[in-house]
Amino acid sequence: MTRTMPATPARPAAAAAGPLDLARVRAEFPILAEPVRGGRLAYLDNAATSQKPESVLRALDDYYRHKNSNVHRAVHDLAERATTAYEGARDRIAAFLGAAREEIVFTRGTTESINLVAYSHLLPLLQPGDEILLTGMEHHSNIVPWQLVAAQKGARVVAAPVTDRGELDFEAWRRMLGERTRLAAFNHVSNSLGTINPVAAMVREAHARGIPALVDGAQAIAHLAVDVRALDVDFYACSSHKAYGPTGFGALYAKRRHLEAMAPWQGGGDMIRTVSFEGSTWNDVPYKFEAGTPDIAGAIGFAAALDYIQAQGLERIGAHEHALLAEGTARLEQIPGLRLIGTAAEKAGILSFVMDCAHPQDVGTILDQEGVAVRTGHHCTMPLMQRFAVPATVRASLAVYNGSDDLQQLERALHKVRRLFG
Ligand code: ALA
Repeated sequence: MTRTMPATPARPAAAAAGPLDLARVRAEFPILAEPVRGGRLAYLDNAATSQKPESVLRALDDYYRHKNSNVHRAVHDLAERATTAYEGARDRIAAFLGAAREEIVFTRGTTESINLVAYSHLLPLLQPGDEILLTGMEHHSNIVPWQLVAAQKGARVVAAPVTDRGELDFEAWRRMLGERTRLAAFNHVSNSLGTINPVAAMVREAHARGIPALVDGAQAIAHLAVDVRALDVDFYACSSHKAYGPTGFGALYAKRRHLEAMAPWQGGGDMIRTVSFEGSTWNDVPYKFEAGTPDIAGAIGFAAALDYIQAQGLERIGAHEHALLAEGTARLEQIPGLRLIGTAAEKAGILSFVMDCAHPQDVGTILDQEGVAVRTGHHCTMPLMQRFAVPATVRASLAVYNGSDDLQQLERALHKVRRLFG
């Protein structure tokens, strides 16, 4: 029997009360006033990357104007300012996720976070015949790293099926947790479908069998409250740039006992305690995993972005995006020949669809002419596209600054597609 579990309950966020003041929110994102193709921008490509508010731009500017120096190395004033800001960012990122600061490893993003777990945690434990259990709706970054390490040990990657609505077939997934499963890895929110997975229940099921769990939180942290301690998850990977922060930066949350047991991944400065030609010893966690000069501004910008989210309140953001999702779904359902891909009961603000009159690439081109920015393609989820027997979809994805006007612009542009191709 196909059964899906309720989504993970949101942790109440410390939020400003009342509905979102959209005009005020938009005023904080200067790029939204940027004309595109000579007209108004409706930015609906937030699952690919979100835009950045003034507070994040200011934090980056302030760092380079007033604090720029290397961290953890020198005793001069600027070095102290940079180190204080950088480590302060770790405290804020840890607090946002409900973690301790030692459990937050800075990375280049979700992809690098998952690769770190694949190579440093999983690879040494893998034996021939072992399995890594995924779901059919994973991003390539939560598939390929596991394939790479599995291939080195004669292990294999298996994936649980997805239903026609784009929900995980929970019972099938649970049956696939077996004697040979060494890790269960799954996304919190599907980047292609918007499905919110029942991650708390999934972690519980995995742990009941002694299996560690990794959650890909790339599409979650800007939309749902996440508390890694309450989830009891072993690893939680996330990126800054989909959460209003700069690109090229992210974090891995890992339980401290895992980090202590894991060998370093990349060698270099700062990750060592001592070095001699006979051998080296390692720094404490999390620094053991942070070789080389880090993206200092990235950490500071990410923390500023999370401060922005907290100031808006995830409950308010979630309610705003949910209302827009309902409106967008209703608008798209009225368009003849349009089929939504992904209609899960628990969904974040993603509208993926195909049209019978035009290829997604052509749809995207017409939408662009009308100032509507969406992503078209396989969204780095080729197995999921195969599951739905489509080569690609058009994906409109929502953020805090979107409004009904963006959805209306999308709808008008889709009618133009129908006029041109229908
Ligand atoms: N992973 C990003 C997306 O879904 C790039 O578009």
